[in-house]
Amino acid sequence: RRYRKTVIAGNWKMNMTASETKKFAEEMKKVMPRAKWCDTLICVPACNLQAATRAFKDLRIAVGAENVYYEAKGAYTGEISAEMLKDLSIKYAIVGHSERREYFGETDEIVNKKALAALEAGITPIVCVGESLAQREMGVTNEWIALQVKAALAGVPAEKMRRVIVAYEPIWAIGTGKTATSEQAGEVCTLIRATIRSLYGARVARSVTIQYGGSMNPTNAQELLAQPDIDGGLIGGASLKPEQFVAIINAAN
Ligand code: G3P
Repeated sequence: RRYRKTVIAGNWKMNMTASETKKFAEEMKKVMPRAKWCDTLICVPACNLQAATRAFKDLRIAVGAENVYYEAKGAYTGEISAEMLKDLSIKYAIVGHSERREYFGETDEIVNKKALAALEAGITPIVCVGESLAQREMGVTNEWIALQVKAALAGVPAEKMRRVIVAYEPIWAIGTGKTATSEQAGEVCTLIRATIRSLYGARVARSVTIQYGGSMNPTNAQELLAQPDIDGGLIGGASLKPEQFVAIINAAN
């Protein structure tokens, strides 16, 4: 663990207006622990990046984007570049969340381009990978995850790997209340680290933060985070509720 950071991240998805973001921060101020041993951030909708940056400043919660486009600029109506995020001092961006892969047609190739663009701008990509229930039942989870990891990281130089976060989110556990057991989650996170090791060697592999995501909550967080290769969480539903999010931060402490 001492080789890498524990990172607790919220993913608000398409939730919370700018005013609700402010209210959330006020509530957080009442319950946030003084000292924390993990890095903490929340990824918010693009239109609220600035509001969140202002609101979370005193809480020492960093703000992340939920997506980033890979082109630098130009005629891409509706998209947001890594440079634009960088200019707002945004340090993290989720890349390849399963909802983007499923509803917005993001392929491994697109995910890879987005990860490279984020890194180029000095932004940490939180690269999401995960298998469907059908894939798990077919017994192809390990092959699928290794493929997603390799594809997402294609062309990432070793010296930039220290800044990459990989999030393992089994699709069947997202928003379903079904968590992977800590052993199941831990096993896949170990496989992810082994995949990184095969690409970059042991030194790089042990420096990369690997998160688990999928119905993580105050009840299961501690057990999941106790797995040797789970270095944090990417939290959806529970990150919308201050008491629950704080309880997960405390579980990481
Ligand atoms: O990115 C976080 C996520 O997909 C998990 O969502 O609501 O199951 O915690 P949730």
